[in-house]
Amino acid sequence: MFDNQVLAQLLHLTGVTEEDFATLKRTSHITQQWVDDFTQAFYDILFSYKPTAAVFKEGERPAREASLKEWYLLVTSGNVANRQFWNHQWYVGIIHIPRKVTNPFMFGMMSRVQQLFLHRCLQECELGEAETTFLAFKRVTDVIAALIAESYHVNYMSALEHVAGLRPALVEQMMSLEVENMVTEARQKLLN
Ligand code: HEM
Repeated sequence: MFDNQVLAQLLHLTGVTEEDFATLKRTSHITQQWVDDFTQAFYDILFSYKPTAAVFKEGERPAREASLKEWYLLVTSGNVANRQFWNHQWYVGIIHIPRKVTNPFMFGMMSRVQQLFLHRCLQECELGEAETTFLAFKRVTDVIAALIAESYHVNYMSALEHVAGLRPALVEQMMSLEVENMVTEARQKLLN
């Protein structure tokens, strides 16, 4: 599973605090009512756009909706400050790899999730409460998106190393030489 430091860095830099979990918990009786609308909107977007619709198998939508509902209800419950929750987000990054759910797809949809959430907060909560609730949700879901992306990247690299039978230290050495060349090439292209 993931390195604790990754989570600690993300929590620190996004500014997540215990207060955010408490806010999510306190407002869950309102935000959890949005679960059906939220899931419907999420999958309407994915199924009406060819590149993302192509990810899904025939008849898969009900199962996907069920896992997203579960995810949303868990996040909005505020009961997420535990290792099991963060491990599960890491796992999502791994299972997205074979299904070719790229990070641009995932980040694009996390942005939509946050936009939908903000819209409902502004519609249904008093302004101060809307800001507090939205920001708690945004910080926590930003950490989730970053964990999923980091997991995708780290596990993709690790699969490549295994397939090629390479030692991580050797890969790092070879990569740094290769990346130096890439930087030089990219800089030249930018300047021309
Ligand atoms: C906000 C971004 C996203 C979140 C939070 C998310 C979350 C999840 C979760 C919780 C699961 C189920 C994990 C489990 O079985 O325990 C899952 C699986 C899956 N997700 Fe995502 N997802 C996101 C974006 C996407 C996008 C953009 C697509 C497609 C374009 C996608 C396609 C899938 C597929 C196909 C699976 C099933 C993988 C499998 O079991 O084979 N997800 N995702």
